[in-house]
Amino acid sequence: MIVSGSSTQALAAELAAVTGESLAPVEFQRFPDGEGMVRVDEVDDHALVVASTVSDEAHIECLQLQDAAREAGASQVTTVLPYMGYARQDRAFEEGEPVSARAVARAISTGTDRILTVNPHEDAVCDYFTVPAEAVDAAGCLANPLPDDLADPLFLSPDEGAIDLARTVADAYGRGDTDYFEKTRHSGTDVEITPSDAAVGDRDVVLVDDIIATGSTMSESVAVLNDRDARSVYVTCVHPLLASNAVLKLSRAGVETIYGTDTIERSVSEVSVAPAIADAL
Ligand code: R5P
Repeated sequence: MIVSGSSTQALAAELAAVTGESLAPVEFQRFPDGEGMVRVDEVDDHALVVASTVSDEAHIECLQLQDAAREAGASQVTTVLPYMGYARQDRAFEEGEPVSARAVARAISTGTDRILTVNPHEDAVCDYFTVPAEAVDAAGCLANPLPDDLADPLFLSPDEGAIDLARTVADAYGRGDTDYFEKTRHSGTDVEITPSDAAVGDRDVVLVDDIIATGSTMSESVAVLNDRDARSVYVTCVHPLLASNAVLKLSRAGVETIYGTDTIERSVSEVSVAPAIADAL
């Protein structure tokens, strides 16, 4: 039985449709002091908690859902983190900092027997869980909404770290070249893109990244591609976090099409990762 978090209801419903599992009745409440509470009134022996930890509140809610599922009688709990928050803080970047990804992974491990998480920033983050944990690669579904007739397509990642995602999307699309730019991050919102010498003139370019957070990486990449007369640019990502003014920033950069998945429910969540999760269960 699927136990959905409040921020993953559409994905949980899609997963129920794909797997044939039923959706547990879950309620979300808030006390006057701001603390959240969940109710899970019914669950079967195996609870599948599906919760993207997109915020600090969502982290707490995930722990509560796991605990409520056990209280309601589940003897086995599998936790699916379609988007794992804090995964990018996977090391102490400066002295005195925590390894936040490890801290949250340990906490989430206490309430579950197994973890699945979709395209974490680095698969190695799975090692921080103290129960069996696997990364699910769902990037291929980003090819689904692309038009069939892309002109000489180039699947491009804004940095080398995401080139495997670009290759996965290109493979799923069935044709096209792959390449990557170099990225230097100066601050949380200031990134510098150094293009490769791949020819982009008159080609349809599909930018592929794991996350769009502030939109800086994608908007800078799009600016380079527009300068170089790309025919059109499709911006795709697995996790459309779209924090702060990201949508505005991307629109100002001339981005017309963004395709993301439903790991984070946004207006651009065009495709579902449910089939990829179902395959991994
Ligand atoms: C970092 O390396 C990730 O792959 C993304 O490129 C990054 O998280 C995007 O962040 P932003 O949208 O804030 O530039």
